[in-house]
Amino acid sequence: MSERAKPPVTVLGLGRMGTPIATAFLDAGYPTTVWNRTAGKADALVAQGAVRAATVTEAVAAGPLVIAPLLDHDAVRQTLGPATAALRGRTLVNLANSTPDHARELASWAGGHGADYLDGAMMALPQTVATPEGFFLYSGSQDAFTAYRRELEVMAPAHYFGADPGAAEVHDLALLGTGYAALAGFLHAAALLDSVGTTPEVFAPLAARWLHGMAGFLPELAREAGSAAYAEGVSTVDLNRAGIDGLIDLSRANGIATDVHEPLKTLLDKRSADGHGQDSFSSVFELLRSQDTPRR
Ligand SMILES: NC(=O)c1ccc[n+]([C@@H]2O[C@H](COP(=O)([O-])OP(=O)(O)OC[C@H]3O[C@@H](n4cnc5c(N)ncnc54)[C@H](OP(=O)(O)O)[C@@H]3O)[C@@H](O)[C@H]2O)c1
Repeated sequence: MSERAKPPVTVLGLGRMGTPIATAFLDAGYPTTVWNRTAGKADALVAQGAVRAATVTEAVAAGPLVIAPLLDHDAVRQTLGPATAALRGRTLVNLANSTPDHARELASWAGGHGADYLDGAMMALPQTVATPEGFFLYSGSQDAFTAYRRELEVMAPAHYFGADPGAAEVHDLALLGTGYAALAGFLHAAALLDSVGTTPEVFAPLAARWLHGMAGFLPELAREAGSAAYAEGVSTVDLNRAGIDGLIDLSRANGIATDVHEPLKTLLDKRSADGHGQDSFSSVFELLRSQDTPRR
């Protein structure tokens, strides 16, 4: 069986993310049409073989797959507003960061104009587009994800989270939250160590090594939290209360703000006061999860 031909791809928005995305499609041999509000940003891509569309309508009409790494929800609506007639039969992949509700609204708007819709969230930096380090999250039309998986994988490894168009944005925010907590912990630790003469630059590789090791602990935490199996965890609530109390006491003694870890101390103290001091650390999940969500 012969390999499916590479369909024309349109990229709307040639900012920090859109430019490497369009470049990746050109490098992969796709006929690539580009459009940007500030037209001059397309010059280098045109020199590499991209077709510059004069209007958004022309860009959308150029092929079945329209990828929009624009700034935000408003930019997507403003850009596509004048081009609704061309959307029929197209698949729109919205890569702008937006809220879950905005993604759902855009999916319904696109559907109303006859377009299939995929919402995407880019867990990547401009320099990690089209490398194994970046990955993109998708939700919305399963048919579109299946039909264009190969094209989506040109930009980054692609993960699909179901038909709810808002799901990719929920996962995006959850991953951001994971990262924020780790990075805030790093900045607190860097401030603490700075006060004893170890600079943040010296500390960074050590912290990276530690976080790498901690990542290996996630499946165990997930298993315990997912099944409420807290009795046999090796690291108990009370053990970690002692650890966090020690960290907070030392921070105070060295004049370091304790704002990052106070919320976790509150959770651990509450868990212990409720009689769960010997449960695994992961049992903090019980204080965080929605009581309306049934156990699976
Ligand atoms: N940069 C990152 O590291 C990164 C990583 C992951 C996700 N993201 C997300 O990716 C999306 C794009 O980010 P970016 O860094 O590429 O942004 P950017 O460099 O600021 O580019 C924004 C793009 O949106 C266009 N735009 C903005 N407002 C517009 C409007 N009202 N009408 C039409 N076009 C408009 C810009 O056009 P002009 O050139 O004419 O201004 C440009 O093409 C954002 O949602 C961002 O949160 C970014």
